Amino acid sequence: MVCFRLSPVPGAGLVLLCLVLGAVSSYALELNLTDSEKATCLYAKWQMNFTIRYETTNKNYKTVTISDFSTATYNGSTCGDHQNGTKIAVRFGSGFSWIVNFTKDGSTYLIDGISFSYNSGDNRTFPDAKDKGILTIHDPVRYRVPLNNIFRCNSLSTLEKDDVTQYYWDVHVQAFVQNGTVSTKEFLCEKDQPSTTVPPVIPTTTRSPTTTPVPKEKPEVGSYSVNNSNGTCLLATMGLQLNITHEKVATIININPNTTDFTGTCHPQAALLRLNSSNIKFLDFVFAVKNGNRFYLKEVNVSLYLVNGSVFSIANNNLSYWDAPLGSSYMCNKEQTVSVSGAFQINTFDLRVQPFNVMEGKYSTAEECSADSDLNFLIPVAVGVALGFLIIVVFISYMIGRRKSRTGYQSV
Ligand SMILES: *[C@@H]1O[C@H](CO)[C@@H](O)[C@H](O)[C@H]1NC(C)=O
Ligand SMILES: *[C@@H]1O[C@H](CO)[C@@H](O)[C@H](O)[C@H]1NC(C)=O
Ligand SMILES: *[C@@H]1O[C@H](CO)[C@@H](O)[C@H](O)[C@H]1NC(C)=O
Ligand SMILES: *[C@@H]1O[C@H](CO)[C@@H](O)[C@H](O)[C@H]1NC(C)=O
Ligand SMILES: *[C@@H]1O[C@H](CO)[C@@H](O)[C@H](O)[C@H]1NC(C)=O
Ligand SMILES: *[C@@H]1O[C@H](CO)[C@@H](O)[C@H](O)[C@H]1NC(C)=O
Ligand SMILES: *[C@@H]1O[C@H](CO)[C@@H](O)[C@H](O)[C@H]1NC(C)=O
Ligand SMILES: *[C@@H]1O[C@H](CO)[C@@H](O)[C@H](O)[C@H]1NC(C)=O
Ligand SMILES: *[C@@H]1O[C@H](CO)[C@@H](O)[C@H](O)[C@H]1NC(C)=O
Ligand SMILES: *[C@@H]1O[C@H](CO)[C@@H](O)[C@H](O)[C@H]1NC(C)=O
Ligand SMILES: *[C@@H]1O[C@H](CO)[C@@H](O)[C@H](O)[C@H]1NC(C)=O
Ligand SMILES: *[C@@H]1O[C@H](CO)[C@@H](O)[C@H](O)[C@H]1NC(C)=O
Repeated sequence: MVCFRLSPVPGAGLVLLCLVLGAVSSYALELNLTDSEKATCLYAKWQMNFTIRYETTNKNYKTVTISDFSTATYNGSTCGDHQNGTKIAVRFGSGFSWIVNFTKDGSTYLIDGISFSYNSGDNRTFPDAKDKGILTIHDPVRYRVPLNNIFRCNSLSTLEKDDVTQYYWDVHVQAFVQNGTVSTKEFLCEKDQPSTTVPPVIPTTTRSPTTTPVPKEKPEVGSYSVNNSNGTCLLATMGLQLNITHEKVATIININPNTTDFTGTCHPQAALLRLNSSNIKFLDFVFAVKNGNRFYLKEVNVSLYLVNGSVFSIANNNLSYWDAPLGSSYMCNKEQTVSVSGAFQINTFDLRVQPFNVMEGKYSTAEECSADSDLNFLIPVAVGVALGFLIIVVFISYMIGRRKSRTGYQSV
């Protein structure tokens, strides 16, 4: 039986959680870095282990697990200054090193990349390894945490890259600790968040979160495209406005195409357009083919960074918007709403999309949305009304004429 102290923060009270882990021993790593004034500037406590696969001299593969950290030293860990970035550096066993960087970004800090090195030439850990030498894995993980919050992730996180799988759990870390006091405010990783509670939604813009949302002007229209080896395979032109509702307060965010990146993929039966920016971790539009002859918007996945550092995520893969025949494009100039969930809507302006069968990088003929074609319907209706009116006028004139001529005849 192993007990973890879940709340390492003085003042928050000690919460002891005991787990029956059988024979598996757990070794928690802990680091309390202080600055020149002996005030805590970085605090971390976490558990991890690694599995490494390697090729042996007789062309087999072996996997070793690295879970003994009793020899760990933290030399090289630093809170950072003008020259050096903030990092935790751990050395253990025979030539293992594990380094995680932290960077500050406005009112948040980032857990900004992990690198792990091992020496396959160490023949006790890697008996008969074919290639001997120091190997390093860089994992570009990025967690954004509000300043003065301790990041907590009790759930298991797995990072897999090349031949190394890294496991982390019971993670507590706070970089850029203010006033030497580790915060009692916990910032939970997504997996630790109770699934029923929606994280509080606060606008991601620099505006103060308490200002009431003002009606926004129309978003700027952006042009997005995806290429594959045959050239452009997906085209989209649209102005996008996100509407996030939380506790009856709607937050409107216009997407600025100038500061938005886009990527995507094209397959015969599915196409993806992914947008991202500093506030938008990702906004995915997934298109599908139905009945072999039409396409439609099937899925929207979104993940937004909120000002309080948390992440707002919503996905719906059961949508049915922007429906048009394959080989054509879908167009809607009028404002339209894609309702992804009760809490998340996208308003589109001057929309045109073609996720399949793009020829020579140009849109094919457009099928217009009914909102647009309503306008076009009005023309025949107006012509019809005018014609009807003309017929009535002619008929009335005829009747009057007949009456006049009859009266004239009688008077003679
Ligand atoms: C870290 O070290 C400082 C100074 O030794 C101490 O005051 C503080 O309580 C420690 N913090 C934790 C969380 O152990
Ligand atoms: C490594 O961590 C994983 C995940 O917690 C666990 O299942 C596994 O037993 C651990 N291995 C060792 C040798 O501790
Ligand atoms: C690392 O730090 C320990 C004490 O924390 C010290 O004994 C050791 O010599 C240091 N090692 C190196 C390589 O600086
Ligand atoms: C910090 O940077 C200086 C100069 O670049 C270097 O000499 C020093 O070793 C660094 N300190 C740490 C702890 O990495
Ligand atoms: C950490 O930062 C240093 C420079 O500050 C950089 O050389 C290194 O690649 C970074 N490591 C990771 C894993 O991002
Ligand atoms: C391990 O390596 C050392 C030197 O690198 C060598 O002397 C020794 O024989 C090796 N052991 C095995 C079991 O291969
Ligand atoms: C740190 O101390 C300063 C000055 O005492 C205070 O204004 C600030 O609110 C403190 N910050 C935190 C996070 O406690
Ligand atoms: C490129 O075009 C050729 C011929 O039309 C087709 O066979 C091939 O599958 C296309 N490749 C991709 C990646 O779409
Ligand atoms: C896609 O390819 C076209 C030329 O075929 C090029 O002009 C355009 O910049 C490319 N777009 C992207 C996003 O790479
Ligand atoms: C945002 O969504 C809310 C709730 O669905 C709705 O009442 C409001 O009119 C929407 N605002 C805009 C600008 O679309
Ligand atoms: C985007 O860039 C264009 C041209 O550089 C500029 O006219 C426009 O105002 C910019 N839009 C926004 C929202 O910054
Ligand atoms: C979009 O994501 C890519 C890859 O993750 C990143 O390099 C790029 O900086 C992001 N773009 C913006 C505007 O944040």
